[in-house]
Amino acid sequence: MLELPRIIAHRGASASAPENTIAAFRAAAAAGATYVEFDSSLTSDGRPVVFHDDALDRTTDGTGLLAETSFEIIKHLDAGSWFGPRFAGELVPTLEEVLEALADLGLGFNMEIKPDRGREAETARMSLTAVADIWPTGAAVPLISSFSRASVAVAKDSGAPWPRSFLFDRRPEDWREIGETLALFGFGANHTHLDERQVAEIKDAGYRLSAYTVNAPERASLLFNWGVDAIFTDDPAMMLRSIP
Ligand code: G3P
Ligand code: MG
Repeated sequence: MLELPRIIAHRGASASAPENTIAAFRAAAAAGATYVEFDSSLTSDGRPVVFHDDALDRTTDGTGLLAETSFEIIKHLDAGSWFGPRFAGELVPTLEEVLEALADLGLGFNMEIKPDRGREAETARMSLTAVADIWPTGAAVPLISSFSRASVAVAKDSGAPWPRSFLFDRRPEDWREIGETLALFGFGANHTHLDERQVAEIKDAGYRLSAYTVNAPERASLLFNWGVDAIFTDDPAMMLRSIP
């Protein structure tokens, strides 16, 4: 059974280290977080790497689309310098490397399957296979999530044993049907579009609810008061200090 902590480090501790890098996951552990969120995406040749954007430009010294770039190119990119000189040489980690690092750090995780258009099923399959192969039995239960209904469906239909959540920006009209069809553990919502009534309805229907991305402690308190179970934050150290 998954006991979701209230504070989840979004892309690692991404306020203090470059997002979705091993440095960010180490920083999350140092901050006292117990769970991290990260994004799993495929290179052009189908290798799962931990990376958020469609394009390489914002967070690496590369250019173009991740989905159109081979792992041979990706593995040499600098994914740290954009954040600060002391992170120069930080790499785009493979999913395998991230899972091994999290196991070593004693962290649990929420893997967000982040497919490019057309590879929803493949991205889910490759990402779930890596978790099945690497994640130690008895370690913290992972949460598997996606904005892609097709990716979450693969997680369900593959028989993977981990709980699933469906992510949305604005709550879809058919959220109850989605929850039932995908046999969800919960939903992950953009907090800026959430209101108290929506939270109550989702909670009354028996789902866990997480909210992204919350970096103001006052907002986190309000969301928790409404009944939100967990927040994704870029600054887990600050949030853990502010929200006991
Ligand atoms: O999983 C919650 C959150 O990470 C979803 O949005 O764009 O930060 O991946 P994004
Ligand atoms: Mg994400």
